[in-house]
Amino acid sequence: MVLRASNTINVIPAKAGIHPVLKGLDSRLRGNDNRVCLAHFVRRSKYLVFKTKPQLTITSALNQTQHFLNKSQIPDARLEAELLLSHLLKSDRTNLYRNASEFLSSRTKNLLKTMLEKRARHYPLAYLTGRKEFMGLCFLVNQHVLVPRPETELLVETALELLQKQKKYLLLDIGTGSGNIAISLARLSPNKKLKIFASDISAGALKVARTNACFHKVSRLIKFCRGNLFRAFNRFNLHEKVDLIVSNPPYISNRERKNLPLDVRKYEPPAALYVPTGSRGTFFHKQIITESTRYLKPGGYLVMEIGIGQAPELKEFLEKIGYFDMIIFLSDYNSIPRVVVTRCSGNSEL
Ligand SMILES: C[S@@+](CC[C@H](N)C(=O)[O-])C[C@H]1O[C@@H](n2cnc3c(N)ncnc32)[C@H](O)[C@@H]1O
Repeated sequence: MVLRASNTINVIPAKAGIHPVLKGLDSRLRGNDNRVCLAHFVRRSKYLVFKTKPQLTITSALNQTQHFLNKSQIPDARLEAELLLSHLLKSDRTNLYRNASEFLSSRTKNLLKTMLEKRARHYPLAYLTGRKEFMGLCFLVNQHVLVPRPETELLVETALELLQKQKKYLLLDIGTGSGNIAISLARLSPNKKLKIFASDISAGALKVARTNACFHKVSRLIKFCRGNLFRAFNRFNLHEKVDLIVSNPPYISNRERKNLPLDVRKYEPPAALYVPTGSRGTFFHKQIITESTRYLKPGGYLVMEIGIGQAPELKEFLEKIGYFDMIIFLSDYNSIPRVVVTRCSGNSEL
């Protein structure tokens, strides 16, 4: 009989004393903290039932997870393996390597298996772990919100630079989602005299945003309102009082849906991604530009994230409106114009 460390239950008759098979086994098991010494049980029971399970060190778990993710065609498999393991072990990524030879508990192994099965079906990692880092801050996320993207950090960095110049600010965030933009501004701005109104059409998203604001202790600075774009703020008298409007609106058109990665197309909320069927990708940008003219103070700014190839069309639209004396497009790390910054001159030609 060959005894292997596998997921099997072996039932061995234990007649007198220690079964011959176990005698040898017992000495092998002694001192091995993976398993228990069995002799004690052999003497007292008719049958010995023991379970040998393969033990998985953190290093093996990382390697096996990476291999599995690679096979499932998940990009950045090593990084994802580290993020999954550090989430499950409530440790940071460097600690995984510091404690590389520690064993995973059966519970952790089972959770990892369940998560990997989902990830292989392209369920987003951030929804699995329930969190995503943005601007160095941790945001809770679920399927009601878009997973915050690194390119949106450019929008926040730009807005933060604009904020440093004055003392008291009134801000609007249109389509707040997880609240990542508004909350990052509230947390990271050295200027604490901010009042932010943030809107979203989705009640589920606003619930997540409020939880995040609470988590980051900025609830008193941000008022979350449900409604269509600026209509959410109707009950407040904000016309011509706003210093800065920020927005990362949906900007994917029908035509572009098929180009999206499976994770995004299958699981992220359609309301966060797509413009209405048949509209151009700039549908929401144009509505926000038009309506912002009623809300911005002269000298106030509008800062929006834009999609690939949308800059020329938006530049033309902004110039036609003639309400803005400054129009700048900022590019992301891939040299794609990603953020438009405009300043309200106050002379509308609408
Ligand atoms: C691209 S996501 C941006 C989320 C978040 N601000 C970010 O940067 O990760 C767009 C958000 O706009 C919201 N939205 C879509 N249509 C809207 C509308 N008509 N009025 C207000 N919010 C809307 C969606 O629910 C979604 O949360």
